[in-house]
Amino acid sequence: MSQTNSNDSYPLPRDTSETDRLNEQHKCLVGAFGFHIHPSISVTTEKHEFRVADVACGSGIWLTEIAIQYPHAQCDGFDISDKQFPSSSDLTRHFGTRVHFHAQDATAEGGYGKAFEGQFDIVAVRLLHISIAGAQWTRAVQNAVALLKPGGYLQWIDWDPHSAHLVQSRPLVKHAAIDKLLGFFKQFLGALDTGATARLPEEMRTAGLVDVRSELWALDADLGWREYFLKTITTVLPDVIVKRTGQAPGGAGDGMNWAGIKAAAQEEGKQEGLWVRTEMWCHVGKKPL
Ligand SMILES: C[S@@+](CC[C@H](N)C(=O)[O-])C[C@H]1O[C@@H](n2cnc3c(N)ncnc32)[C@H](O)[C@@H]1O
Repeated sequence: MSQTNSNDSYPLPRDTSETDRLNEQHKCLVGAFGFHIHPSISVTTEKHEFRVADVACGSGIWLTEIAIQYPHAQCDGFDISDKQFPSSSDLTRHFGTRVHFHAQDATAEGGYGKAFEGQFDIVAVRLLHISIAGAQWTRAVQNAVALLKPGGYLQWIDWDPHSAHLVQSRPLVKHAAIDKLLGFFKQFLGALDTGATARLPEEMRTAGLVDVRSELWALDADLGWREYFLKTITTVLPDVIVKRTGQAPGGAGDGMNWAGIKAAAQEEGKQEGLWVRTEMWCHVGKKPL
């Protein structure tokens, strides 16, 4: 019944710029972490009932790579928006009936519904941080835990965006414009619950998980991530802020307009020895048998 694709020719989903960005980000993240599934999680590849869920899956790139790596896995992706899901015809062609995507709010009261509860060996969440706040975190964790079979694992990779700060390895590099962008970013984060990533282990234990392991990653040790993230801060992030706030921050104080700040930040980003450091966590917990 299941159809597999053992090479990496699986086409990227719909060609939108956000999908491209998420897919590039995924490659950099997997390159920096060195795994899709944390090595503390035991995966029996021959098991035919092996089920994996990807919560807030975006384009589903992580999940479709799992489907390729584990030809017996049944995979379900969930996201509040179906805009970036791969097309059904691509999924059927490459995976038969093994991979499905569902529009679903991870913080919904009532969770994912009876059909999905207690069904999954692994539930993965990655980079939900900027999207939810306050009590939604507790609900998102409870809902994810409810998806797990007894003995199943929750893996949650997320960052504290407030931790983003510039570092340098050479004297006298210019960074005034990047400083401004980071300042706007942190101002925009004000309404969000940016410390939630560090609280996740406690939330996971409270939701009933055991053997909770939290690893704090200095992703900027990886040069690919370093380059990607600086580019994100100077090109993608300004547009995210404008989109979310509905207006470009003005009044830079030195006569420079928003477009000028972006252009200057991009120039600064070309210098050697300047990058943005962030803290990224990988949390893993197990549902007791
Ligand atoms: C930064 S993207 C990460 C996508 C994917 N996890 C990855 O690592 O490539 C955040 C995703 O969270 C989704 N999202 C935001 N709020 C959500 C919610 N309440 N429930 C489910 N998904 C949500 C967005 O639609 C978006 O696809």
